Amino acid sequence: MATRKSKPRRRFVVRNSGIHGKGVFATTRIPSGTRLIEYKGERLTEAQTDKRYAKDDNPHTFLFALDDGMVIDATSGGNSARWINHSCAPNCEAVDDEDRIYIETLRAIRPGEELCYDYRIELEERHTPELKRLYQCRCGARRCKGTILNVKKKKKKS
Ligand SMILES: C[S@@+](CC[C@H](N)C(=O)[O-])C[C@H]1O[C@@H](n2cnc3c(N)ncnc32)[C@H](O)[C@@H]1O
Ligand SMILES: [Zn+2]
Repeated sequence: MATRKSKPRRRFVVRNSGIHGKGVFATTRIPSGTRLIEYKGERLTEAQTDKRYAKDDNPHTFLFALDDGMVIDATSGGNSARWINHSCAPNCEAVDDEDRIYIETLRAIRPGEELCYDYRIELEERHTPELKRLYQCRCGARRCKGTILNVKKKKKKS
């Protein structure tokens, strides 16, 4: 008689988050350095992204900007990775592996913990106090930066 292999248990679920909207939570202990999921979605150029979202100044986004200027828009073709929230004290990180983005754990994670990574969002314009407020962070970390925007380094005077 053929033996039926049991499906591996999913290591995380999507449910409501205390940080924002939906979030992704561990269902089991996950070791440090585990590759959890790819951030999937439609690939757009910067120009296509600007065209699509030109009139949209809502800070809520399912966009992931790559270093080469391309953008992954998880609004179409996205998976559970698009629900992972930002934290200023993240337990995961987004890793670029040959232009594909994977979410990996930075440390061992306990069941029930929310999975988060640092979004490192950089807007072209100056990160004014108003903009930082618009992108206010609610991660609740002891050293929360107060914004999900990346803190821009001050330029040195020459
Ligand atoms: C990719 S979605 C993450 C899923 C989101 N919770 C939802 O339900 O749609 C990214 C958006 O979630 C919100 N978000 C994520 N992390 C946040 C945080 N730490 N504080 C406040 N808002 C956050 C922001 O609006 C951000 O643009
Ligand atoms: Zn924070």
